[in-house]
Amino acid sequence: MKFFLDTANLDKIVYFTSLGLVDGVTTNPSLIAKEGKEFLPTIKEILKIVNGPVSVEAIGSSSIEMIKEAREFSKLAKNVVVKIPFTKEGIKATQILSKENIKVNMTLIFSASQALIAAKSGASYVSPFIGRLDDISFEGIELIEQIKTIFDNYNFKTEIIVASVRSPKHVVEAAEIGADIATIPPEVLELMFGHPLTDVGIKKFMKDWANAFST
Ligand code: G3P
Repeated sequence: MKFFLDTANLDKIVYFTSLGLVDGVTTNPSLIAKEGKEFLPTIKEILKIVNGPVSVEAIGSSSIEMIKEAREFSKLAKNVVVKIPFTKEGIKATQILSKENIKVNMTLIFSASQALIAAKSGASYVSPFIGRLDDISFEGIELIEQIKTIFDNYNFKTEIIVASVRSPKHVVEAAEIGADIATIPPEVLELMFGHPLTDVGIKKFMKDWANAFST
């Protein structure tokens, strides 16, 4: 399973890259705004750090505007992926961009039918938002199962990016289903390391070592 980092925080991207855990990065306007920095300069900094796919969100609402933005973003680096929201205009843009070999991450996916349309339209990635489904009392992870089954049935090359991840449990459940990618907020990736028994075990080994072998 590939791990993408769902953040525009440069320090976190550098930190987890140094641990060898960043296969790509996803951003959106909210994440960049949270950092209090300018949009394009932030993207350019991320592209300097990350070799894998970096998703950059188009904000136009017509297909013409989205295509224009996507073409501009794709000039920044060859690992740019354009994030396009799931709308009819977004689908039109995706069909054109995929023919130009510009990779599209179709975002704001909340149903299997949307994912199917995105895959048929040539999206390289779909981003189902599981946390936001949980928020409204749906089982977000069930959507991942459905999409995985559909993509496997028809050998779609479109990769599933499990997004709106809120906990290590989300990542583990997505991995059990066989999702291609989880895009993980840094604080959740941090939590994935922890287990109290690991800490207790290390303390005990250190104590026993000190008692038995230190002079
Ligand atoms: O990648 C999409 C993600 O950033 C949305 O997460 O927590 O705002 O639902 P959230």
